[in-house]
Amino acid sequence: MDLTRAAAEALDAADPLAAFRDRFVVADESLLYLDGNSLGRLPRDTPAALARVAEEQWGRGLIGSWSSWIGQATEVGDLIGTGVLGAGPGQVLVGDSTSVDLYKLLVAGADARPGRDVLVCCADDFPTDRYLVAGVAAARGMEVREIPAHIDEGLDPEVLAAALDERVAVVVLSAVAYRSGALPDLTAVTRLVHDAGALVLWDLSHAAGAVPVELDAIGADLAVGCTYKYLNGGPGAPAFLYVRRELQDELRQPIWGWFGQRDQFEMGPVYDPAPGIERFGVGTPPVLATAAVEVGARLVAEAGIEALAAKGRALTDLVVALADAELAPHGVVLASPRDATRRGSHVSLAHPQAWQITQALVDRGVVPDFRTPDRVRLGPAPIYTRFVDVWDAMERFRAVLAESAHEAYPTERSRVT
Ligand SMILES: Cc1ncc(COP(=O)(O)O)c(C=O)c1O
Repeated sequence: MDLTRAAAEALDAADPLAAFRDRFVVADESLLYLDGNSLGRLPRDTPAALARVAEEQWGRGLIGSWSSWIGQATEVGDLIGTGVLGAGPGQVLVGDSTSVDLYKLLVAGADARPGRDVLVCCADDFPTDRYLVAGVAAARGMEVREIPAHIDEGLDPEVLAAALDERVAVVVLSAVAYRSGALPDLTAVTRLVHDAGALVLWDLSHAAGAVPVELDAIGADLAVGCTYKYLNGGPGAPAFLYVRRELQDELRQPIWGWFGQRDQFEMGPVYDPAPGIERFGVGTPPVLATAAVEVGARLVAEAGIEALAAKGRALTDLVVALADAELAPHGVVLASPRDATRRGSHVSLAHPQAWQITQALVDRGVVPDFRTPDRVRLGPAPIYTRFVDVWDAMERFRAVLAESAHEAYPTERSRVT
């Protein structure tokens, strides 16, 4: 690979997605933002969309606007499902947080497998997933099997297979590992879980908008994910949940709110869940926030998930190649799968002083993430990140190490990273 800046510029010139960058707010061109997998950029159309909902619908229409809001959770759900997740209509709902949606689907899944008393999750998965599995298991007297996964290479299907038997009700796994970006074979893993008679619940937070997940085609049962990362829905944007159509009427979620109720405005005396995906709703949905999700998801759908994934692989390949060439002599080691088809759109680089390096990079106009124990995580979101952004960021990374600039930063970590 040609590792010159001119080669990066040539990649940008040939990039079929290049024009999408202008659809986002880039307030500071000198800031190299490689944290789109924590919080995506603001789409240019989002403020106007929010103003429209606020001024026209809320301000002018008042309560009468509920007629245009009532279908929003399923309409934006369908947009995400069909445009991003490979899920046919009527299977995705937007609302609540990823954690709350995980809770709802975990309990619903466990209830759907009576007589099975084990929940499986991955010991290296994102904390909220592990905590929720532990909490649900504790509340129900179930056992948790936390399977180990390689911190950089991710889940080994053989390790998972060894943990599966007729006692397992639900298996919770991330499609893209939050630290390393490792991406297992989703079809093969789903089949393994099904062979054991269990349900699989995929956390798509780092996958949605980064890689194709093809939920219908892989036979996924349940899924949840954030919309504030690659879907650019904004801080605190509501999550999405997916329930395979054939399972919907069999499953009951544990939070019996009126937004999951059949004929909601009949104000019936007892909870009677609505048919279809709407039964997974709970309370009044976040209308303004969902309007922002719609703008972000539309952009991703327009760009096309295959094209985004291809660019994500190319961008992260450039990170890896530059890390090998320029950073490895300073003790930096790749902490993600080397094979681009086995990772999402982010990579991690290990160094014993990763925390200090992260602070030094931020002060030099590069925004990565620190992740425990000693990783600098770089997430070049393909929809708005240029190859030259990656090149320039890696050059600043090299300069920090060459000048030992990171040594000047305290080793003690602050709370928010
Ligand atoms: C993989 C994964 N799952 C779940 C969450 C938590 O989602 P929420 O805070 O929206 O509940 C995150 C947040 O970053 C995440 O990365």
